[in-house]
Amino acid sequence: MIYLDNSATTKPHKEILATFLKASEEYFGNPASLHKIGNEAEKLLESARRQISQLLKMDQIVFTSGGTESNNLAILGTADAYRSRGRHVVSAVTEHASVLKPLEELERRGFEVTRLAVDKFGQIDLNELKNSVRSDTILVTLMHINNETGAVHPIAEIKKILGGTRALLHTDAVQSIGKVPLDTDSMPDLLTMSAHKIHGLKGSGVLAFNKVQPGAILFGGGQESGYRSGTVAVPQAAALAKALRLAQPNPLFAEWNRNLREFFGSFDDIMIVSPDNAAPHILSVALRGAKGEVLVSGLQDEAVFVSTSSACSSKNTETSHVIEALNLPPVFREGVIRISFGAFTTQQNITDFQRAFKKVHRIIKGVRNNEN
Ligand SMILES: Cc1ncc(COP(=O)(O)O)c(C=O)c1O
Repeated sequence: MIYLDNSATTKPHKEILATFLKASEEYFGNPASLHKIGNEAEKLLESARRQISQLLKMDQIVFTSGGTESNNLAILGTADAYRSRGRHVVSAVTEHASVLKPLEELERRGFEVTRLAVDKFGQIDLNELKNSVRSDTILVTLMHINNETGAVHPIAEIKKILGGTRALLHTDAVQSIGKVPLDTDSMPDLLTMSAHKIHGLKGSGVLAFNKVQPGAILFGGGQESGYRSGTVAVPQAAALAKALRLAQPNPLFAEWNRNLREFFGSFDDIMIVSPDNAAPHILSVALRGAKGEVLVSGLQDEAVFVSTSSACSSKNTETSHVIEALNLPPVFREGVIRISFGAFTTQQNITDFQRAFKKVHRIIKGVRNNEN
């Protein structure tokens, strides 16, 4: 089995599962309980929080149910808390749905949202960003690495641009944490991460922030300093800290990426969708006149698992909003697949992928030639 869909999710690491199991068995108490069992769970929780805070160099760590909730908390919570400063938010058209949908919700609540366009490389125009920030802009939310193409937003430069303004910067770093080196000197004000993209557990994430106080979006017992009510999932928190400690950018990703780009370059009907300077662990390509689903299914027959542009939109029959925004030539738009590496990817996987792809390409091409 060759699993190359690590941007959709990753296989949990055994050591992380062991941490989860041990914490579930031995620290099952409610960290809010006053007795010893509760105190022990609380100690483990706070130790996990401290480790994550140190690794991310962010002061406040709030445990959530994943990237989607963290993005919702960052956007809806910040907008709510800072609404007296202004009601304008800036983002980009290629953000993940868990950013785009809360932005639509903000509009329903009377906020104004500017969505920056991207060029064919998935890049926003930094001058346009600069010009879009106004005195009433309270938040700029821009992802670090795009989940469909690997396009990278230059967070350090964006932070500099926002330096002289009152706008806070939120970054969805779900696809970058643990995959590329973290620039801890240029952290945004708020940062989203998700455990299941780095061989941790699904349903577990963090919103980290510095010197910001977003409003809550879940109300109840006031756990997590009131930022996120609900009994804290201590084993998940301990497992997330472990996942973050284990996550290491792999220098081989760049080599495999180059290798695959060369391989795809030898086909005259394949377009490389990911920009040249994209993150190394995500590579999107498109086959002329084909459907991504057909490629995915053909590869599955060879025990190779990739996705169409993104796992969230791959069950939709519509072209993804990211692919739309890149304005690909129409003959390529429906034929996009995404290959993404993780900690368990090997050189052999890359070699086997190429063999399988050649076969599937031959079959699809044969079918297409017969149709013409
Ligand atoms: C860029 C990005 N943001 C947010 C999410 C949502 O994270 P989760 O699945 O933990 O809710 C994803 C998941 O695919 C993602 O790729």
